[in-house]
Amino acid sequence: MGEFRCVDRSLLNDWHVVAERSALMSNSAFTTRLMGHDLQVTLDGRYNLRVVELDTGEEVCSDSRYGFIWACLGRPERDIIYLPETNEADRHLLSGGSIAVRVSGLRAVENFLDMGHFPFVHTGWLGDEPHTEVLPYNVTITAADEVLATDCKFLQPFASPTARAAMLVDYIYKVFRPYTVALYKSNPLDPDRKDLIVLFIQPVDEENCIVYSYLCYLKRGLEAAAARSFMQLIFAQDKPILENQRPRRLPFDPRAETPIRADAVSVHYRRWLRDRSVTYGAIAYPV
Ligand SMILES: [Fe+2]
Repeated sequence: MGEFRCVDRSLLNDWHVVAERSALMSNSAFTTRLMGHDLQVTLDGRYNLRVVELDTGEEVCSDSRYGFIWACLGRPERDIIYLPETNEADRHLLSGGSIAVRVSGLRAVENFLDMGHFPFVHTGWLGDEPHTEVLPYNVTITAADEVLATDCKFLQPFASPTARAAMLVDYIYKVFRPYTVALYKSNPLDPDRKDLIVLFIQPVDEENCIVYSYLCYLKRGLEAAAARSFMQLIFAQDKPILENQRPRRLPFDPRAETPIRADAVSVHYRRWLRDRSVTYGAIAYPV
């Protein structure tokens, strides 16, 4: 198991989701694994949360936010990410469920950023042939050190649970942290505002992850349950594609996979990880 343990300091000192809050039964233990470390999560009563490393019996930092349980194996260098949209009263805020995927969590982030797969993987929902072209978009690194892709547009037959017709959807993607990625997409009923979907990805080890989705959809015309089923339908289409990717870890070597223009955000994401020495879940190569 040792080879699957994380040595990246920034990941060890960061927060990661390790459970959905609703999956924890009071007074019973839940076991999971984070970056090769087996953890036991317990909740006594409503508030007494403990996350303990099974090998050593030592407690690690833990917290509960956005309906998820978070843990940090080292010393937290920053807070859990802040999402201002969670303060907007006209949004549903809910978990879109969790799904275990046999691939590196970095691959799951990259797939989430990739518009090119919509017509082929989410046919009839997020894309359709012959509309397969990914139009040029912009990628920047923000002052807060996030990867940001803007001006992304894609024609979608059934873009969201409230869509009634095909629409040209505006997207913004943001990679907040190596294993946390979000997309903002135009709301069909209120084109000036955007629905937000965040993926919090738990690196179980370098080749396995659990993807938790957090949905911040505008409430207008939408039941929370419909938002959740839509997310689960879409992610069930991604899972087999992700599990077929080889190698399971994300290669940093640009020669390992041929980049095309549609991959601009993925090229930036890989470089951003490499420049920050985040290699857990990746195949790094000597620079
Ligand atoms: Fe997908």
